[in-house]
Amino acid sequence: MLKRHRIQFPKLESSNLNQDEAYFFLQGSGGQRKIRFHDYDEIYQVQGLYEQVFYDRLKCTSPSKVTAILESSVKQSQDNFSELRVLDLGAGNGMMGEELKQHGVSRLIGVDIIPEAYEATIRDRPGLYDAYYIEDFTQLDAEKKEDIASWQCDCMVTVAALGFGDIPTRAFIEAFNIIKEQGWIAFNIKESFFDVSDETGFSKMIRELIFSKYIDVYHIERYRHRLSIEGEPLYYFAIAGRKNADVPKEFFELKGIMA
Ligand SMILES: C[S@@+](CC[C@H](N)C(=O)[O-])C[C@H]1O[C@@H](n2cnc3c(N)ncnc32)[C@H](O)[C@@H]1O
Repeated sequence: MLKRHRIQFPKLESSNLNQDEAYFFLQGSGGQRKIRFHDYDEIYQVQGLYEQVFYDRLKCTSPSKVTAILESSVKQSQDNFSELRVLDLGAGNGMMGEELKQHGVSRLIGVDIIPEAYEATIRDRPGLYDAYYIEDFTQLDAEKKEDIASWQCDCMVTVAALGFGDIPTRAFIEAFNIIKEQGWIAFNIKESFFDVSDETGFSKMIRELIFSKYIDVYHIERYRHRLSIEGEPLYYFAIAGRKNADVPKEFFELKGIMA
């Protein structure tokens, strides 16, 4: 059985932070350590900590939700879910990969930007991914791109990894363009990114992309992604659809958005 960690969230009055500034304390033999939610490198190094904070305490449901809407979208077509070859962008320690594998996909290729994610995956979920790349998709060189493309993925997923300084839209498009035409896509984003009053570059870009001719949306669902540290629900949209064509490099320039 996995060791339970002693974790503590900050007191309510001091915890009125943006989602990407949230933190917790980890009590250890050497005293108390403050860890930000976005310090994934530190979190993954402690076995079971990511699962305990985000899944046990904060009740994250996103891997199962995004898998369910992907499955229901694929069912609307002649394709078989069990034959999907999936690129998991921002794979982390394999929570989404594990969910997909339980539903029976054919191939799983993981990508993350930090080596600690890969190390945690092979430590905690060995053999889950057929291949796992540590790459920054905004800087992917031609050779690596070809290597990843050789897996012939026809699906990409990205869960709890878009926005908030994590995966930028350019990296998302790079992965999108690697999968086959007519391939499947499924991901989640915070509901505020859909709000037209949110004019940050990321929000504008993701909205332009979702409602562009490059994607046919099959399923959008608003759901509770997880709880905040104050116990409030954080709502996200889960989106699944099909790729129509590669997104050209000049897409955002044409739309007049700084990317
Ligand atoms: C909240 S975790 C989600 C992990 C997993 N998808 C899940 O649902 O549990 C976000 C992950 O995105 C990764 N990430 C952040 N920026 C990235 C980038 N530019 N390219 C690839 N992965 C990135 C982080 O390292 C982290 O592992």
